[in-house]
Amino acid sequence: MKKFVKLAAVFMAAAMLLALCACGSKPADDGKKTITLGTSADYPPFEFHILKDGKDEIVGIDVSMAKAIAAEMGAELQIKDIAFDSLLIELGQGTVDFVIAAMEKDDTRDAAADFSDPYYTDVPPKIVTLKDNAANYTSLDDFSGKTVGAQTGTTKADIVADQMAGANPLLLQSVNELVNGLVNSKCDAIVLDGAVADKYVASNDALAVVDISLGEAAEPYRVAVKEGDPDKLLDAINAAIKKAVENGDITTWMEEADALSSEAIGLE
Ligand code: ARG
Repeated sequence: MKKFVKLAAVFMAAAMLLALCACGSKPADDGKKTITLGTSADYPPFEFHILKDGKDEIVGIDVSMAKAIAAEMGAELQIKDIAFDSLLIELGQGTVDFVIAAMEKDDTRDAAADFSDPYYTDVPPKIVTLKDNAANYTSLDDFSGKTVGAQTGTTKADIVADQMAGANPLLLQSVNELVNGLVNSKCDAIVLDGAVADKYVASNDALAVVDISLGEAAEPYRVAVKEGDPDKLLDAINAAIKKAVENGDITTWMEEADALSSEAIGLE
């Protein structure tokens, strides 16, 4: 019996610890509140890994935006690198407090999370192929019977499904894997957000952007918080976005990310 009580106590302590860990914002050592960003760091110039003084670090426009939001809240920023298609699930579970990942708002996502005002509008999406094949594609019909890759759960996967009738979709969780797939002929093309396509092409001589337009404008990127915003984060997030847009910080962050993306790890 005594043993059982002891065991039960251990279990309860473990459960309490788990409950504590599950909560995204907990006080840091210095008493400052911690706020955890969820992102998918395979997406230069928005979020990507670099080696800084031998240490792996996640940087990019979205990370700079997250830092400004944390500063607005007087909180310490923690970053969790997650597959893009798990970001809103983790947000719902509370293992991250907010998501910034070049994420657009659409109806499905809007039903699962709350979104901030826009903080950035990219150039329209682009199609990337091997440089040697780029001239073979002059219209979207040319992808019929071809394998076209996109990141799982993204609006780029929707483009392959909706606008490239006849193409066989190859959906992979990470953009690095997709680019490897293209280089190793596992697919014939991939669809990426415009700035991201440019970055991967710039860091890989074998790749090129195809001269086919995928629409005039891109959907703006926004910050996501848990559905209903139970922790009331959106006011501070929108305040930080307003400042960053109005005082030109976003442009500076873009330039900084451009300068760093040549150091990005795992792009080639
Ligand atoms: N903009 C696209 C979307 O909202 C793709 C974003 C992918 N982001 C990333 N960090 N991998 O679906």
